[in-house]
Amino acid sequence: MSADTELTSHKEVAFDPDTYVSMYYSTVAGEVEEGEMLKFFLDGLNDAFKSGAITGAKLLDIGTGPTPHTTFCAAPWFDEITLSDFSQKNLEFLQKWKNGEVSHMGPIFEYLAQLDNTRSCVEERLDELRKKTKNVVHCDVTQSNPVSSTPVDGVVFDAITSSLCLEVASTTLEDYVKSVRNLSALLKPGGHLVLSGVLECTFYRVGNVKFKNIHITKDQLQDIYKKEGFEILSLKDLNENYAPHMDETYYSDFKNAFFMVAKKAEH
Ligand SMILES: C[S@@+](CC[C@H](N)C(=O)[O-])C[C@H]1O[C@@H](n2cnc3c(N)ncnc32)[C@H](O)[C@@H]1O
Repeated sequence: MSADTELTSHKEVAFDPDTYVSMYYSTVAGEVEEGEMLKFFLDGLNDAFKSGAITGAKLLDIGTGPTPHTTFCAAPWFDEITLSDFSQKNLEFLQKWKNGEVSHMGPIFEYLAQLDNTRSCVEERLDELRKKTKNVVHCDVTQSNPVSSTPVDGVVFDAITSSLCLEVASTTLEDYVKSVRNLSALLKPGGHLVLSGVLECTFYRVGNVKFKNIHITKDQLQDIYKKEGFEILSLKDLNENYAPHMDETYYSDFKNAFFMVAKKAEH
């Protein structure tokens, strides 16, 4: 592990999945400095998927980490889900979760299930999610073919979800744009992208490891996705919708967060 003050990247140090989950995903309130960020993301996921308008055969989640909640609301609407991450430790964690050897984030899944109480109970929904999770694969969104392992090599997905990944995977805004292009190549024309992340943030911590984050504003975000051929269907930000988070900046210095639903151009 790197020293407390050093900034590092996920390519240099893989974070510890247990530490990450216990720091940020023990409760819906999340880590104290985050304010309502996690609730904002969870509400966004429920809103995006509840109507069933975003549907298809194959869903990919990019940079899942040890936290597959990003696919919980989508699961009823897709036949097959692929989880992916850069870190081998996270892939092993997700595989254990899929096999039923890890049961974590109970309050988070309970909250999501309760938001949409027209469906079955949380245990049945988690069973469905585990069954539909067919692949847990390595991904490097900075590369031109981000998920190149069998059986998903060459697959084009009907929808992609991703949370808090692209801004930590990239080291500059130019890199970020390339990652958006790499992600877009995995999405079929007309396919949906459901993306959440932080704005105006330069780092976040997992235990005593401090990870770099690229600083991106809401305007830059919109410009990038529009230029890369996405129609932005909705873009909410934390500060305009929820109580402001505390001004503390020990765990992360994010100023705002976003939840976006976008559609890739048909051609
Ligand atoms: C802040 S965590 C987010 C995890 C989870 N999606 C969430 O919302 O809590 C960032 C994740 O991105 C992954 N990651 C970092 N660089 C990546 C890359 N180049 N390609 C794919 N995933 C990457 C990390 O391993 C880590 O799991």
